[in-house]
Amino acid sequence: MTAPRIAWLANDDASRRVLDLATKVAATSTTVLVTGESGSGKDQLARLIHELSPRRDAPYLKIDCASLPPELVESELFGHEKGAFTGAVERKLGRLELARGGAIVLDEVAALAPPIQSKLLRVLEERSFERLGGTETLRIDARLIALTNADLERLVAAGRFREDLFFRLHVFTIAVPALHQRPADILPLAEELLARLATVHGRVGIAFDHAACRLFEAYPWPGNIREMKNAIERALVFSSDPVLRPEHFPEHIRSAVALTGGAHGPLRSLEDIEHEAIAATLEATRYKITKSAEILGISRKTLLEKRKKYGLG
Ligand SMILES: Nc1ncnc2c1ncn2[C@@H]1O[C@H](COP(=O)(O)OP(=O)(O)O)[C@@H](O)[C@H]1O
Ligand SMILES: [Mg+2]
Repeated sequence: MTAPRIAWLANDDASRRVLDLATKVAATSTTVLVTGESGSGKDQLARLIHELSPRRDAPYLKIDCASLPPELVESELFGHEKGAFTGAVERKLGRLELARGGAIVLDEVAALAPPIQSKLLRVLEERSFERLGGTETLRIDARLIALTNADLERLVAAGRFREDLFFRLHVFTIAVPALHQRPADILPLAEELLARLATVHGRVGIAFDHAACRLFEAYPWPGNIREMKNAIERALVFSSDPVLRPEHFPEHIRSAVALTGGAHGPLRSLEDIEHEAIAATLEATRYKITKSAEILGISRKTLLEKRKKYGLG
């Protein structure tokens, strides 16, 4: 198979399991429900499932159920015939029809209005539908991927989401863990986002210093990867330094860490701290000596001596 055109970085065991599930389900045409907090990577995972599937060259169409008014969700999904309602001046094909052979993604599926939930349920059961105002029955030939950051089971219990639709969607569910639940992803993701953003902003070669890495690891990232991406982009825009340090990141991030004591940790000897700082910097720069020395603020010669002393590399 050719390589997917999209990557879903997974270094932590928790996200590797997600990637595994995504790879397995990609090979099938099963309906997939992706749950997870906002910014955790649901959209990107849906895209990856499509890219890894035999349907990858067919369309990938998304409908944002939360931001479109209900009438529009309906006509976007099913399409309409000319004259189906005021303003329907000509026939319009819906995404279900346009996604032929590909994937249709319902983003924020919990926001679907009750009448559309009922209609969608019927469509999924029968695998067919009609355009609004139309009589021709059309077969569905697209994989459905539903995304939600809401707890659908709780919404079902509260009577706000149809239970039968929930079961139709809950065939193969992938729960994307929040970023703080996959700590081993934090630094690799930060590095990857920085590299990507640095290219966009013409700042190739920029790096995090050791303290910024510790800050990233200690902060709980309630807004997940999206928050991290925004924080890095903001730092790139506001500073022209070749090295990103904690002071380049928003106050609320720095103070959240200071409050939990994450920036301090247990008290240790200066030698220990030096050892750790050098190890982390070498690792972050993939053992580039000149770059590491620059970040650490010491000469190449001193770095080489200390590297030897601590047995690093
Ligand atoms: N595993 C990942 N590897 C690299 N980038 C990711 C990954 N997951 C998410 N992102 C990036 O993080 C941001 C938020 O992801 P998104 O899929 O939109 O989250 P959600 O749909 O859960 O709100 C996007 O810019 C996306 O490209
Ligand atoms: Mg999203």
